[in-house]
Amino acid sequence: MVSLFGNKTAGWVGVDIGSSSVKLVSLSQHGQSYQVDTYAIVALPPTAVVDGSVENQSEVSEAIERGLKICGGKLKNAIVAVPSSAVITKRLEISNVFTGLELEEQVKIEADQFIPYALDEVALDFEVIGPVEKAPSLNEILLVACRRDDVARREESVNGAELKCDIVDVDTFSTERVLPLLEEFDPEALVGLVDIGAATLTLNVFRNGKVVYNREQAFGGNELTNAIHQQYGMEATEVEKQLRNGELDAEIMEMLVLPFRQSVIQQASRALQFFYSSGIQSQLNELYLAGGTASIEGLADMMQEEIGVPTHVANPFKNIRIGSRLNQERLMKDAPMLVKACGLALRSFDR
Ligand SMILES: Nc1ncnc2c1ncn2[C@@H]1O[C@H](COP(=O)(O)OP(=O)(O)OP(=O)(O)O)[C@@H](O)[C@H]1O
Ligand SMILES: [Mg+2]
Repeated sequence: MVSLFGNKTAGWVGVDIGSSSVKLVSLSQHGQSYQVDTYAIVALPPTAVVDGSVENQSEVSEAIERGLKICGGKLKNAIVAVPSSAVITKRLEISNVFTGLELEEQVKIEADQFIPYALDEVALDFEVIGPVEKAPSLNEILLVACRRDDVARREESVNGAELKCDIVDVDTFSTERVLPLLEEFDPEALVGLVDIGAATLTLNVFRNGKVVYNREQAFGGNELTNAIHQQYGMEATEVEKQLRNGELDAEIMEMLVLPFRQSVIQQASRALQFFYSSGIQSQLNELYLAGGTASIEGLADMMQEEIGVPTHVANPFKNIRIGSRLNQERLMKDAPMLVKACGLALRSFDR
């Protein structure tokens, strides 16, 4: 029997391959709303992912495999993302006489003119947006291009964990999908989202729910982890575990973790200044903080005070159902880290 409210897409998992850990999220759709069924966060050795690129495939596969075990099996199809920094997107205008294979050929010819790599090294994808307003005989095409190697390494890491990598997305697009799940989100507003991970700080700005600006800076929680390692001799993986679990010694919290908020604010403000000077003039209406480093106590309030824009820690699970096997309190703490994986999991509903 077909159940309208049943678990519509069992078996799909969003896999976010970060530099310090892989994050897995699996969702199901129940009527109009979603449920988070399972998730896992598994630490990676520092050699696995460097500068956003998978350097050691088997280490990543092993971590994904461990994540699948935590999730309890049954997950078969994966959605991964390449970082937007590895991707070139461009809007093209192409005559609407071209369709199908002819259109593909035409896109390739145009792409060849601005992509700085040989076309056979590049994975290309495109979407027909619709007729150009002022010249309806032309179609607006969104082209996405990425080095084949970047895509292949991610695909193979996932396939090596007995999953089938069915969709490779771009991380900014996955974040777009999460926005409607965030509290206070106004679809018409100019919304910023700063992801502060272990190695990279990324600012995305969205208007009408679509990304209009993207910038990455080399900054993240690694600076804090390294400082703790140097001063207290703790291993980096242990520091990260204790930070996540809220188990770190009160003295270290006081001396290093809380003061680190100032550096985060400085770096995030710097990213915002670049945005404001980029020509998209208006002031942000709302700012969200995501990524593991966003969890430092009091960060959002301090950020709000500094920049004068309402600031929240991003939690895509606040208003959706939570699977009965999950620890709700733990999920709420892990939520900002899971934003990207959640956006990837959401992709399973618009295949
Ligand atoms: N409660 C917390 N307080 C402070 N820092 C935290 C906390 N929880 C996690 N972190 C830090 O967050 C970082 C990991 O965040 P995240 O998982 O978003 O990064 P990543 O995706 O692996 O890295 P990147 O996106 O830079 O490649 C680590 O540096 C970790 O120490
Ligand atoms: Mg990350």
